[in-house]
Amino acid sequence: MRIIVYTGKGGVGKTSIAAATALKCAQLGKRTLVMSTDLAHSLADSLDVPLGPEPREVAPKLWAQETDVYHNLETHWGTVKEWLEALMAWRGMDRLVADELAVLPGMDELANLLWINRHRDSGAYDVVIVDAAPTGETLRLLSFPDVLGWWMERLFPIQRKAMGVARPLLRSFIDMPLPSDAVYGSIEKLFEQLEDLHRMMVDPDQASIRLVFNPERMVVKEAQRTYLYMNLFQYPCDLAVCNRVIPDEVEDPYFRHWKETQAQYIALAGEAFAPLPMRTVPLFDDQVVGLGKLGQMAAAVFPGDEDPTQVFYRGQPHTIEQLGDGYRMTIRLPSAVKGELSLRRVGDELFVRVGPYRRTILLPRPLVGLEPRGAKLDEGVLTIRFERATKEGGSQWNKERTAARG
Ligand SMILES: Nc1ncnc2c1ncn2[C@@H]1O[C@H](COP(=O)(O)OP(=O)(O)OP(=O)(O)O)[C@@H](O)[C@H]1O
Ligand SMILES: [Mg+2]
Repeated sequence: MRIIVYTGKGGVGKTSIAAATALKCAQLGKRTLVMSTDLAHSLADSLDVPLGPEPREVAPKLWAQETDVYHNLETHWGTVKEWLEALMAWRGMDRLVADELAVLPGMDELANLLWINRHRDSGAYDVVIVDAAPTGETLRLLSFPDVLGWWMERLFPIQRKAMGVARPLLRSFIDMPLPSDAVYGSIEKLFEQLEDLHRMMVDPDQASIRLVFNPERMVVKEAQRTYLYMNLFQYPCDLAVCNRVIPDEVEDPYFRHWKETQAQYIALAGEAFAPLPMRTVPLFDDQVVGLGKLGQMAAAVFPGDEDPTQVFYRGQPHTIEQLGDGYRMTIRLPSAVKGELSLRRVGDELFVRVGPYRRTILLPRPLVGLEPRGAKLDEGVLTIRFERATKEGGSQWNKERTAARG
């Protein structure tokens, strides 16, 4: 089963593009489910049919679903939540507040994503398309079963094994609500499922993450950030989709400036998301609602009989590893790239130029204060060291020019 996740800033067109992709997959004969895990659903509006928490067939081979967060939380988190609530109430916390707090941040959307495990197990679909909440926060969270583990160790006063013996003893001393075996059991089960989901989502044969954005400054910047995190956490991104591009044939002077601005950000996006292929989708003359319009949109993203479930890019565009008290970044460039190499860091962005080839990479926080140096290009892999600034090289700007060996 293929899993395709569309993510991007609020309002860029994720839901529309997810629905359009699903329609195209179904038309190609694949059993397709499009599923919204966003807490604020709009998939039903996009498809223009009512949807519920269970998949519903909306066209031949096409099913759609808007997951129900309360139901999912009850299923996956219920016992744990009850105990956390009891614990907080025991500490004198208001019942209503306790109810809100008893869900770890992000747990609600993660519980929604667990539907993917269920659909995989059912074997009912060839492809599941996920219309995710903005910016892929949830996937970041999924990379941290350890963080959840850390929470749990602090929340649970004593390890489970000791518990069986200790519980009756403890009870006679304190009246604190203690986690039952059922609570431990459901936490264990939840972690197992999350780990299983994580394994699927980092496997490029199974999952693809696709970035949706509009050619505007803030939107491209946020998509760059998502791309950075997806890369860091090794989620396989395979496509960038630039939506709402004013078509060439629009000649109204009112849009002239807009078109220039858009062209500038499309070029920037090309440098930022390379080597992912990029698709552009025109701004339509009306909202994209209903199967007819979605079909038009699908044809713009995946022209002809192109299969949206194919893997459009394979590999990790860049990697970062710690090296002493600095870092080493490797960037994959097409191996044909040759020429003079220039590196420049401005704020949190690194600008790389090799001959005519340009790349803009958003840097993770620990690298922002460091200086890029010792760049080396070898067989299509550019390696850059990031080190603490020394006195002579301590300027915010760092330019390094070396003759690159292609
Ligand atoms: N290329 C386009 N041309 C015209 N209208 C579009 C285009 N793409 C999206 N829209 C419209 O823009 C609105 C927002 O799109 P959509 O709901 O797909 O965005 P979203 O990223 O899912 O938003 P949210 O973050 O709120 O979930 C919808 O009314 C949709 O029909
Ligand atoms: Mg949406």
